[in-house]
Parts: sequence; C-alpha cells; structure tokens
Amino acid sequence: MESNEFVKELEDSNNTLLSQLKQQPSLEEHESLNIRQLLKIALKNEMEATELAAYWVHSTPEVDVKLGFSRQVGDEARHYHLIADRLHEMGEDLSAFDPLAAGYSPLFNYLKTLDHTVERVAAGQFTREAIALIKNEQFIELCRQQGDAKTAHLYEEIIQPDETYHQRLGKEVLEKYAKTEELQNQARQAAQKTLELAEELQQMAFRKMGVHHTPGC
Ligand SMILES: [Fe+2]
Ligand SMILES: [Fe+2]
Repeated sequence: MESNEFVKELEDSNNTLLSQLKQQPSLEEHESLNIRQLLKIALKNEMEATELAAYWVHSTPEVDVKLGFSRQVGDEARHYHLIADRLHEMGEDLSAFDPLAAGYSPLFNYLKTLDHTVERVAAGQFTREAIALIKNEQFIELCRQQGDAKTAHLYEEIIQPDETYHQRLGKEVLEKYAKTEELQNQARQAAQKTLELAEELQQMAFRKMGVHHTPGC
C-alpha cells in the first residue's frame, strides 16, 4: 500500500492499544506517588533515549534521518539536564546518582537490535514517543494535583513540544521511506514489539514501586 496509507493504518492500530494506557487507574488512588522518585525514573528514560539516538546516528545512511537522530540526541540530553536541575531545586542530591545503575531496560536492549531505518523509526520515534506523550500528560496532571506547578510547566512548555517533534519525525520518515510491503511489515512488527515491551515496563514499575505514571521520553 502507499506509505501514507500505511502510516495511517499503523497510527490507528497503535492508538487502539495506546487508548488502554490512557485508562490507567486514576491518580487519586496513588497518594504515595512521589514526584522526585518519578523524575529519577525520567532521568533514566532520557539517558536511554539520548544513547539510543546517538547509537543510531552513525549507522543510518539517510542524511535527513541521521540529522533527525542527531537533533534528538541534543534534545534528550537537554531534558536530562533540565530534570536534574529541577531535582536539585527540590533538594535532591544527585552527585552519586547513576541513572543506569540498575542496567538498561528491556525496551532499550530491543531497540538497539534494530538495524533498518524504517524499523528504528517505527519503534523508537513513531511508537515510543507516542507512548511518552501520553505518559507525560498523565505526569503533568499528577504534578498539578500535587501542587508542583514548576515541574508541570517544565514538561508542558519544554519537554512535551520536543517529544511531539520526535514523534512527528517518526511519522515523516515512515511516510518517506516505508514504501515496500516488506518494510511496512518490519515497521509493524517493530511497533508492536515496542508496545508490548512498554506495557511490560509499566507493569514492572507498578510491581516494584507502585507507580503508573512515570514520565516518558
Ligand atoms: Fe523524545
Ligand atoms: Fe526526552
């Protein structure tokens, strides 16, 4: 099928699954949620997103995509700094903090195995960033509920517009390059696997820490 048609189909199928993410338990049930704890998880996500985009830059032949990944490296690294600054302002000492102390996430390890631009972008930008946009909206709501307008503002004004850009980049690259049935199938599988792993990560975060609303990237 035409790539535009394909992207629309992939978007619809992602949205069906993503709509379940939107129906997570309401925030009020998790009074113990701690913004600082969630921001530390966000640091890990930002670090993984930075490293992944950087990892892909060199092995991506298409110049426009290479530059898109490069811009993303800068964006995600900036998010890391801004979140770390916010944590510092909240009294957190990050001098001995290592965001990767517990290792990389299964999603990161999966994404690193992807070799082709279309797969990478379907998983990393088109799907992972779509998940992030929803998670961040929920996180902003949580910050507001807990009276943390400053963190909410950081996400609303700086981080979310960048994540929206990354997701749009994914869409544009797929429209441009996912031209064959084979590439479209690879993209579908990569998006599907990303959704599954993101769901597992979410369940793991809930089991370990009782949190549903970790910010994404
Ligand atoms: Fe991002
Ligand atoms: Fe980010």
